Amino acid sequence: MIEHQHVRRCAVLMIEPRERLTLDLAGLLSGNDALASETSIVALAPHLGVEVEIDADESAALMRFGETPWLPLAKVAERAPIEVVERLLAKGLLIGDGDAHATLRERDAAIRDAHWRPLSAVSHYFSRWRDSGLDEDARFTRHRPIASLVDECGLPPPHLTERTPREQRRKLPALRESTLDELFSRRVTCRNFDTTVALAEADFSDVLNRVLGCLAVVEVMPGVIGLKKSYPSGGGLHPLEPYVLVQRVDGVETGLYHYHACNHELEPLSTMTAAEAARFAKVMVAGQTFFAEAPVHIVLAARFERTFWKYRNHPKAYRAIVLEAGHVSQNLYLAATELRLGAYVTAAINEIDIEQALGLDPLHQSPILVCGFGARASRCEMFEFDPLGKVWAGE
Ligand SMILES: Cc1cc2nc3c(=O)[nH]c(=O)nc-3n(C[C@H](O)[C@H](O)[C@H](O)COP(=O)(O)O)c2cc1C
Repeated sequence: MIEHQHVRRCAVLMIEPRERLTLDLAGLLSGNDALASETSIVALAPHLGVEVEIDADESAALMRFGETPWLPLAKVAERAPIEVVERLLAKGLLIGDGDAHATLRERDAAIRDAHWRPLSAVSHYFSRWRDSGLDEDARFTRHRPIASLVDECGLPPPHLTERTPREQRRKLPALRESTLDELFSRRVTCRNFDTTVALAEADFSDVLNRVLGCLAVVEVMPGVIGLKKSYPSGGGLHPLEPYVLVQRVDGVETGLYHYHACNHELEPLSTMTAAEAARFAKVMVAGQTFFAEAPVHIVLAARFERTFWKYRNHPKAYRAIVLEAGHVSQNLYLAATELRLGAYVTAAINEIDIEQALGLDPLHQSPILVCGFGARASRCEMFEFDPLGKVWAGE
């Protein structure tokens, strides 16, 4: 029997009808459709962290409970059969106020208190990976020749759209040269890092400072600190926390750090052997060994509640955080390029493994992307896109 006095639905829940296709041999042999489709119902509730399959009765019952008012036990049976309610409580999709649900209630409260937009929360929490790409070397498995892609998918959509005939277009003045042009032309995603040299501490420090450091710290009013950085931030709230995996930097111990942006300091989280760091680098970038070899990696983890403090339940707030991470990685490319170093960015990351290694509760902080930088190798063995020949002239 239910051990709670009151019940309500968890704060964020989306229900997805999920199709599973199977080969229908009987259908195939009788000349009918060879594909059979089965549909299951999947409940996506971020506070649980995992997908939960439910049946039609459970799905229907969930529609009859609100997420705000607590419903007294006496009224619960009016909404749904009690055995269905029991199953939903056991699955954590309904929340009770008894001791048995203390942990689930806390996790549900974390989602409520962060003021997530439900669609954004589901999108973030159910696109995180664990253990992806670890049993392969993406150098060989992931880089398909374009011709094979075209074979399978046909030609891609055109490289741009044209909205007017040529004669109606207004020609704009030729580019006036600037030092930025030279920098931009040398920005090439690096997939060939030199694994034999360590990064000079001064280069490491300058790039972190320039890209992630604070240019000014302003007390806007008591208890409200505004940060000025080299990249723009939605609402000026700077929700991205930088974590650094140092593999090879002169004088800096190998391991995981948090970068203290105001003081330009490294906060040690755990030291690692070179082999442990190499293994974890590969985990972070989901088996992309050519990125894992960079001497320094930066995880940008979002403190969602910082942005959602202002933009509550806001349809654009999560997008703003993701965009912001892109600004940081572009600045990292440019700062590294200026020092003749290579840089990379990837969204193909094992967020869940990273959260565990960094001791992050994903309901409060969770990775958005990983980027890294360091000296380039002397030879280009893995493909890079350098049509101007600025980095690999003659290769
Ligand atoms: C958000 C984002 C994610 C990316 N993820 C990967 C990745 O997982 N693996 C990879 O090899 N390149 C990745 N790249 C790099 C692109 O492949 C690269 O930018 C593109 O090929 C153009 O080359 P360029 O950066 O040298 O101009 C990513 C780029 C962006 C912006």
